[in-house]
Amino acid sequence: MTTTLRPAGPGRDGVYTICANGRSVGGVHLTPLGPWGAGTGWILHIQVLPSRRRRGHGCVAMLAAEEIMRGRRCTRMAAAVPEGNRATTGLVQALGYTSDSRRLVAPVRAGGLPHGVRMMDTDERDAWCAAELHRFAASLRAAGWAEAAAQARAHARLDHPTAPAPYTLGDGSAVWVAHGVILALTAPNPEATALLLRAAGHVTATGGLPEVAIEVSDDTYAKSLAAAGFAPRTRYWGKPIL
Ligand SMILES: CC(C)(COP(=O)(O)OP(=O)(O)OC[C@H]1O[C@@H](n2cnc3c(N)ncnc32)[C@H](O)[C@@H]1OP(=O)(O)O)[C@@H](O)C(=O)NCCC(=O)NCCS
Repeated sequence: MTTTLRPAGPGRDGVYTICANGRSVGGVHLTPLGPWGAGTGWILHIQVLPSRRRRGHGCVAMLAAEEIMRGRRCTRMAAAVPEGNRATTGLVQALGYTSDSRRLVAPVRAGGLPHGVRMMDTDERDAWCAAELHRFAASLRAAGWAEAAAQARAHARLDHPTAPAPYTLGDGSAVWVAHGVILALTAPNPEATALLLRAAGHVTATGGLPEVAIEVSDDTYAKSLAAAGFAPRTRYWGKPIL
């Protein structure tokens, strides 16, 4: 049996039909410019017909997707897999993807800014954002990311010149939230973390959104996040494709 990817057609950029001996058995949606910036190709969605699963179509489609993304100058692949999706988790693991980070989500309510929390002024903001960008890019390099892809991901997360400034307790700690997403959080202890998460929830609820999300790559804030009502929603997987 020959499994191939065929472009789904005009106006459906990045969408491919998975074909087995010329007949459609599913589809895959790709982009070379996802949430982690240039250089990381994303599997946005993959699906194989229920009656045709466990015959290797998903696996071959993913490998073909990597080839397409290499042709689009990507050096890494990434996929966002809903928590508990065993089939897709098994598929990406079988292909050598490793866990990168998780997206956690919490419901929010407006309760006022916690005492002691204030918005950064422009100088504080610029210095903190530059340091945070440097720290995040360095952590990616330490995890094996090539320089260009690490910079692209750090800038994609932290270049938001029009977003409102981060909130701080004035001691170097900060939370930066925009459009219901916590872009960065730095806090020295659980008490500060709890206050800043409450601030992020308040700001998000005031903006009319029901939930706030955060992407975390380790367990540093795990207990504080759980205490603030955050639950894992998605796991991000990735691998280099040099
Ligand atoms: C995920 C999906 C695309 C896999 O397609 P597939 O053609 O069945 O995958 P393959 O046959 O190539 O499987 C390759 C490997 O992935 C893993 N795998 C696939 N399905 C699995 C399952 N249900 N449980 C555990 N591992 C699984 C196995 O390691 C498998 O190798 P094996 O069959 O030799 O054990 C398919 O199950 C699907 O369409 N799921 C529903 C849609 C979905 O949830 N999409 C993801 C949202 S992003």
